[in-house]
Amino acid sequence: MSPRLSSTLLRWYRQHGRDLPWRQTRDPYRILVSEIMLQQTQVSRVMIFYKRWLTQFPTWESLAEATNGQVIMVWSGLGYNRRSLVLRDIAKHIIAHGVPSTPEAWEKIKGVGPYTAAAICAFALHQRTLPIDTNIRRVLGRVLFGIPYPTLKMDKKIVQSADFVLPKRGAFYDVPQALFDLATSTCTKVPACASCPLKAICKSAPRFLSGHVRIPKIMIKKAKESRHRNKPYPDRIYRGKILKFVREHPETFLKTIGPMIDPHFDLSLDQAWIKAMIVRLQKEGLIALKHHRLFLPT
Ligand code: ADE
Repeated sequence: MSPRLSSTLLRWYRQHGRDLPWRQTRDPYRILVSEIMLQQTQVSRVMIFYKRWLTQFPTWESLAEATNGQVIMVWSGLGYNRRSLVLRDIAKHIIAHGVPSTPEAWEKIKGVGPYTAAAICAFALHQRTLPIDTNIRRVLGRVLFGIPYPTLKMDKKIVQSADFVLPKRGAFYDVPQALFDLATSTCTKVPACASCPLKAICKSAPRFLSGHVRIPKIMIKKAKESRHRNKPYPDRIYRGKILKFVREHPETFLKTIGPMIDPHFDLSLDQAWIKAMIVRLQKEGLIALKHHRLFLPT
């Protein structure tokens, strides 16, 4: 990207950038918490939970010492609950081995993928690295390569362009942050190119502005999630309901939980399904089963 691209983007960001709590810190712990929470969850929801989490677990040490039950309680309401255990296990690793200083070393920790590793190095460790998530892929795939709906295959090219995208010194932290904000405010699935600061240099804007782009079917189709017979929600939602119920009513008998989480529960058609979900939650460390009763694990 030319200096023009980063300077135009940064000018826009100074005016339109969001004031997010994890932008006030360079603490690797706080950055990691925000990045794990932001996976599959909207910024507005994360804000509340981020503050609550940091009040309960302000440091690597305090989190590393927490039990499964404690982290599940503090995470409650945010969804994709396994992330709370992943975060605690990362904290344990950090306490034992120290804070890694390269993306490669971060990626060796279970639960840390290439995006998260790059994000911590960029946002906490002041490294000139470009993390690529769906937002950044969408903006840069469009602007630099003229691909209206870039897929994962684009990442190699985007990584190679990082040296152009990031200023040589100074504000390289702000560039990915600005790209997040542009992606959610303007360069959305159906982008608002007319109001985009990059429209003059974007290789996709002319096509979008002329109305010649259709959203590919593959992006309209919802990701396939497992679902039991005619249930209205995917299993993921019922697993969340089971965990919520157990949080609020520990010691519930396994046999009685079905109707509590599903008003259309049918003993003969659904009990095996409920049991299988509980076994999975148990294996993941989210639920404990003792004497046919359900608890949060210690
Ligand atoms: N999505 C992932 N990381 C983010 C961040 N730091 N700010 C806003 N959105 C994000």
